[in-house]
Amino acid sequence: MHTVNSNGANIPALGFGTWTLKGAQASALVEHALSVGYRHIDTAAIYGNEEAVGQGIKSSSVPRDEIFLTTKVWHADLNTADLVRSVQASLERLSVDEVDLLLVHWPSKTIPLAETIGALNTVVSRGYTKHIGVSNFTVPLLNEAVRIAERPLVCNQIEYHPMLNQDIVLDACRSHGMSVVSYCPLFRGGELFASDPVVSIAKKYQKSPAQIVLRWHVQQDNVIAIPRSTNSRRIQDNLAVNDFELADEDMSLISALGRKNKRLCDFEFSPQWDVA
Ligand SMILES: NC(=O)c1ccc[n+]([C@@H]2O[C@H](COP(=O)([O-])OP(=O)(O)OC[C@H]3O[C@@H](n4cnc5c(N)ncnc54)[C@H](OP(=O)(O)O)[C@@H]3O)[C@@H](O)[C@H]2O)c1
Repeated sequence: MHTVNSNGANIPALGFGTWTLKGAQASALVEHALSVGYRHIDTAAIYGNEEAVGQGIKSSSVPRDEIFLTTKVWHADLNTADLVRSVQASLERLSVDEVDLLLVHWPSKTIPLAETIGALNTVVSRGYTKHIGVSNFTVPLLNEAVRIAERPLVCNQIEYHPMLNQDIVLDACRSHGMSVVSYCPLFRGGELFASDPVVSIAKKYQKSPAQIVLRWHVQQDNVIAIPRSTNSRRIQDNLAVNDFELADEDMSLISALGRKNKRLCDFEFSPQWDVA
């Protein structure tokens, strides 16, 4: 799998998402994902699975320095002292000296952004993380974060899939040299996999609907996707998207679904989303 250069961080274009995975199952799935070739694992303090993810990494035969490991700090913990404590606790649970990427999981409506960005700088200086970035940031928030940051922000992890047009955020990230990391990249399967154009394009290329959707992600400049699965076969298949290329017309047909503007992750603490 190719890597995406994001302001100096080389991030594997496909990663393994771990939201909802817990305990021994999470460990076994992370170990399996690494054994079939994933080199990028996504977790978060709030997922309650960092210990299990760390165990999966330890049990695998893949050296730690070959794995791009991301964790996130929750939006209630974005003042300096809490952010530093949150990262220390994550490192302890993951049983690693540092992560590759630390993300602000969601922007805070109460804690000043400048304090949070300053704290990100501190945790890089202390060697807790190699890179820093944000998640669920709108374009105005992103521009402000970039303006304040002393070190480059490498990505904005956002909900992105064919059912949700994110052109405005994509353009902003690219203009800052950042990547977009697509979460819920598969729209959690279901509806997207059962309807056209995904079904007909899957037939045309003799690939699964999931492979078509993941190929659509990684064929776009600066886009990285982090699908999750509990099924070992699907975990493997989701990575196998490098042996074909979607024609421009098929990329456009899939992108056109974005007019539906369907969002899966929208909470009372979400910012006011950019509208494409
Ligand atoms: N930053 C944020 O705020 C945020 C928010 C949400 C998610 N995330 C991250 O993004 C990751 C991915 O998002 P997500 O887990 O919500 O959604 P997702 O990856 O779009 O979808 C996961 C669902 O798709 C199914 N699936 C996976 N591969 C499949 C395949 N080949 N064929 C059919 N079904 C398939 C899985 O079912 P099976 O298990 O049965 O295969 C699972 O139910 C998360 O795990 C997390 O790491 C971040």
